[in-house]
Amino acid sequence: MERRTIGAGALAVGAVGLGCMPMSWAYSGSRQRGDESLRAVHRALDLGSTLLDTADMYGPFTNELLIGRVLKERRAEAFVSTKVGLLVGEQHVVANGRPGYVRRACDASLRRLQTDVIDLYQLHRADPEVPVEETWGAMADLVRAGKVRALGLCAVGARGGRRSGTGLHDATLRQLRRVQQVFPVSAVQAELSVWSPEALEALLPWCAAHGVGFLAAMPLGNGFLTGTLTPGEGFEPDDVRARHPRFTAEMMAANQPVVAGLRRVARRHGEQVTPAQVALAWTLAQGRHVVPVPGAKRERWVTENASAAAVSLTPDDLTELSLLPPARGSWD
Ligand SMILES: NC(=O)c1ccc[n+]([C@@H]2O[C@H](COP(=O)([O-])OP(=O)(O)OC[C@H]3O[C@@H](n4cnc5c(N)ncnc54)[C@H](OP(=O)(O)O)[C@@H]3O)[C@@H](O)[C@H]2O)c1
Repeated sequence: MERRTIGAGALAVGAVGLGCMPMSWAYSGSRQRGDESLRAVHRALDLGSTLLDTADMYGPFTNELLIGRVLKERRAEAFVSTKVGLLVGEQHVVANGRPGYVRRACDASLRRLQTDVIDLYQLHRADPEVPVEETWGAMADLVRAGKVRALGLCAVGARGGRRSGTGLHDATLRQLRRVQQVFPVSAVQAELSVWSPEALEALLPWCAAHGVGFLAAMPLGNGFLTGTLTPGEGFEPDDVRARHPRFTAEMMAANQPVVAGLRRVARRHGEQVTPAQVALAWTLAQGRHVVPVPGAKRERWVTENASAAAVSLTPDDLTELSLLPPARGSWD
């Protein structure tokens, strides 16, 4: 697989990464199978999808434990990126950016991941009670201590990022300017896909201008862009899509032109090429500093997604995809 380098430290990773979240979090729990997920992670490494993206809050904790079982055997082949700063409570997810907590959380992640160094340590969300410089300073100390190789920042979520009259990523850009004064940012993680292209406006250009890598989260639109979801089929109550405004039967039907466009482009590249691969090829085409982290827990999807690195979209394909209607159904 093509390799890409991200961040000031020129971290080298396979162009298509693996988002490990669906193995333990956010999507229907009844479909999570530990052994199947383990095989999926091994398959990713076999194919050169080296960047494994996880977080302490996925599970919580069980996702890192799962990745740790693979890292124990294949640490040298993997690039592990995890996250700190969000705690799962009974009812809510809360931010904690206190330096003492960050230090303890890092040690706990290292233990669960069965490794002595995390390649990319990302701040999941800034804590409104703690100046972000303080949290970032504690994370920088972890680099100096050799527990972490590089630091990343996740964008403020869609529900918290937009105020009327402001851009979706204005708050994240402000945070980036502040933390960059303390210690270099190596990667930013934010949603980027054909139906959520907002990061192209300011966030991606900022990363390109500062030599910062970009991890494209949710590049498959939570599965919608693969064309394998049927409007009206419904989601189990613990699946985030059961409450997601884009995943009501009405909005899924209204958003079908996006899938149709991906299918049209896929057909031009051959019988075997899928809408999911075109969606990933589109993210890869947004810049050499972009690494999509499609979430998947099945070997079959991991294999299909890794092959997207070989799909080369033409300028006409990219123009056609850029003209697709924006997604309908939003948190705002
Ligand atoms: N920083 C943040 O705040 C944040 C937020 C959200 C996500 N993320 C990161 O981004 C990663 C990806 O996001 P995501 O998993 O929510 O969304 P996604 O990558 O857009 O979509 C994942 C869904 O697509 C399905 N899928 C994957 N490949 C497929 C294929 N080739 N054909 C058909 N279906 C396919 C998966 O099914 P299966 O589950 O059945 O395999 C899963 O349900 C996460 O794993 C996480 O690492 C970060």
